[in-house]
Amino acid sequence: MPTSPSTAASLYDRVRRVIPPIEWPAFTGDIDAILALKRERNAVILAHNYQTPEIFHCVADIVGDSLALARKAMSVDADVIVLAGVHFMAETAKLLNPGKTVLIPDLAAGCSLADSITAADVRLMRQRYPGVPVVTYVNTSAAVKAASDICCTSGNALQVVESLGAPRVIMLPDEYLARNIAAQTKVEIIAWKGHCEVHERFSSADIRELREAHPGVTVLAHPECPPDVVAEADFAGSTAAMSDYVGRHKPARVVLMTECSMSDNVAVEHPEVDFVRPCNLCPHMKRITLANIRAALEENRHIMTIDPGVADRARRAVERMLAI
Ligand code: 13P
Ligand code: SF4
Repeated sequence: MPTSPSTAASLYDRVRRVIPPIEWPAFTGDIDAILALKRERNAVILAHNYQTPEIFHCVADIVGDSLALARKAMSVDADVIVLAGVHFMAETAKLLNPGKTVLIPDLAAGCSLADSITAADVRLMRQRYPGVPVVTYVNTSAAVKAASDICCTSGNALQVVESLGAPRVIMLPDEYLARNIAAQTKVEIIAWKGHCEVHERFSSADIRELREAHPGVTVLAHPECPPDVVAEADFAGSTAAMSDYVGRHKPARVVLMTECSMSDNVAVEHPEVDFVRPCNLCPHMKRITLANIRAALEENRHIMTIDPGVADRARRAVERMLAI
């Protein structure tokens, strides 16, 4: 059953600062259909902070960073979870709530970090550094998680590393996250050479130019950015931590050195803050659209499955992280 016109109108009020009126009519048919399909199928939509505002603010039930989405996926009661995010996020939701149907609207929504390492690579690192625990970023396949001791996200990486009580840890696969954590701890970090194709493109020169062009601007960076970018920023943290920072400090003017939709989504909540918007698009996150979310619910696709040979060990690595 389509929603009433008044529902659509109130949804537009929410996003009017970031979606021009001329674009809105292109979204309303899919939004109405998705809201009705969620009720029919007893489905919830989990959306990452990098999803576009018409997804994030108009159809998602649960939003957040990778850590929040993993935690919340565990306690979803609905029959169906649609993961509006990338493949590893849907895989993590399936690992943590295996009884549910988990759908990802586009199977090709990947991640350059997840693509940078295989389970065989992790085993080689273990041979090279015997006895050194392996901390694996959640931006990896289930097979890589299964070959690891514990997972982390950008929101808890320091805590996870220090929880192990080891003098050295292997931290995979994001070289920059590993180096940014190494700068905050006495634990020796052995890194891999994976990079996020979105965050590796920011430079400290970009920040210096921004500060010159916008005196007084507050600069927030994601810890997947190179260490010189994090060092030049006023604050570095996960997507949720950046959003919280804006809410707590309400800077007059801010720039988020991260994916483009992040500023749009946070700007909706903080009309008083001026967002300067140099940003980089994640082509994988942008594969998810209202049209393919609708198709996912209509056609029950694409159903996440995890190789039973790796599922239990991968789940253990994620649950060990969540227990911290
Ligand atoms: P967060 O865990 O900070 O949301 O980051 C996920 C991600 O893919 C960032 O590029
Ligand atoms: Fe992966 Fe980077 Fe895209 Fe996040 S922003 S999903 S780390 S490629």
